[in-house]
Amino acid sequence: MSDSVSLPLGAMEDVRRENEKRARRGEPLGVFVLTFGCQQNEADSEKLLGLASMMGYRPVETPEEAALLLVNTCAVREHAEKKVLSIIGGLQHHKKKNGALIGVVGCMAAEEHRLEELKKSYPYVDVTLDPASLARLPEAIAKRLSGGGRSFLRTEEATLAEGIPPCRRDSRRASVSIMYGCNNFCSYCIVPYTRGRERSRSAEAILSEVRALAEGGAREILLLGQNVNSYAGECDFATLLSRLARVDGDFIIRFMTSHPKDVSDRLIEVIGREEKIAPAFHLPLQSGSDRILRAMNRRYDTARYLATVDKLRAARPGIVLTSDIIVGFPGETEEDFEATLNVLRTVRYDMVYSFLYSRRRGTPAATMEGYLSEEVRADRMRRLLDLQTSISAEIGKTYEGRTLRVLVDGPSKNPELYSGRTEGGKLVHLKATPADVGEWKTVHIDRADAYAMYGTVKESEDTK
Ligand code: SAH
Ligand code: SF4
Ligand code: F3S
Repeated sequence: MSDSVSLPLGAMEDVRRENEKRARRGEPLGVFVLTFGCQQNEADSEKLLGLASMMGYRPVETPEEAALLLVNTCAVREHAEKKVLSIIGGLQHHKKKNGALIGVVGCMAAEEHRLEELKKSYPYVDVTLDPASLARLPEAIAKRLSGGGRSFLRTEEATLAEGIPPCRRDSRRASVSIMYGCNNFCSYCIVPYTRGRERSRSAEAILSEVRALAEGGAREILLLGQNVNSYAGECDFATLLSRLARVDGDFIIRFMTSHPKDVSDRLIEVIGREEKIAPAFHLPLQSGSDRILRAMNRRYDTARYLATVDKLRAARPGIVLTSDIIVGFPGETEEDFEATLNVLRTVRYDMVYSFLYSRRRGTPAATMEGYLSEEVRADRMRRLLDLQTSISAEIGKTYEGRTLRVLVDGPSKNPELYSGRTEGGKLVHLKATPADVGEWKTVHIDRADAYAMYGTVKESEDTK
């Protein structure tokens, strides 16, 4: 477990006072956060909004209204970085127009070469903060508002910031970070360099946050961490889960992401026993070739991975299994790729998130031999998607005619339908009413395809 840092109350107070003056002059005090990347980043953005609110800013719906513009970035793949850089480029116009302060935060702000680039080529960026430095936002803003220079903050010593009340977007589905960082150094991955070493929050702090959320009407609580099952607070992850499952309330608990090497028998036993834990497990495989798994430094082989899947299914029949796959890791042969497809055929995941390998500067895989051409990678991706789509469609069919609990989120893209998710996390488009939103409903599944199910709320039944 890690010690936590205290919030910079002095700087926060300075900014708040300055903002009060601005408010009296009728100047706008909006804050807008644009978020890229994983759910951890979404949760961080809720904390940034919380911090900004404590400093007197008020969340607004568009960047045009903002006096403080934050871009929370992701560095996991090159494509994402390029997109973010062009968006940051577009923000200078807000600075010219209404003098907005611009902050670039998150994983890109932890990369040495990006910081150099932001310093030199993006002079209108006022502040950068790496993920471990988010709580230092008030410090950087106070400096800037009082006429000081730009700040490029990186926290060398990884810390935990407790006590930032997040501004939650959705009180029904709430995220709770339980640990930060990663110690695994998979050879392709930038995350250990951007988010630093693993730090776990105290179990007591997590429990009281979850109790408060449950009392506030949360219907689903998502526990977050790069490797949730490496959680090491006062207890381990299995014990934390069983304690959380005893909190009163009509909610279920979800968690992500888990590393296959750390799925203990005790964790599987808790998932089998506790009804409050969602029947869902996201277990990134990355590759089905043992040779490639070794080159990736994943520290499991396919035999062990498949044994874990069997145990999970035995403990919790019908559990929804999802995975991440990297297509075209350096040196991946046709045979290695076939081995991945074979694991997909064996496990029959409900859904797979597949990514084209992206070379990340500073990671061991970036200099490995056997970088594959765009064509080879794209061809393999297409074959993988084809296979998984047919598997997902077959699984979908097995849900037709069944009755499931669904948490209704709101109107779907089709204006006549609502959308929601099953306890296993599967997407359902359904006929419902506004009163159903934010509640668990019993839903009859009329039909399903590879991507979603379609159903109807059963009127007479209350699922509580
Ligand atoms: N800690 C989690 C999530 C890591 S990032 C885990 O271990 O699963 C989410 C996913 O992005 C990874 O699971 C991986 O499939 C993918 N990813 C990470 N680095 C990548 C890279 N360099 N190229 C392509 N995909 C990558
Ligand atoms: Fe990246 Fe591996 Fe850590 Fe996941 S476990 S964040 S893939 S290094
Ligand atoms: Fe991206 Fe950082 Fe999350 S690299 S995936 S935002 S941990």
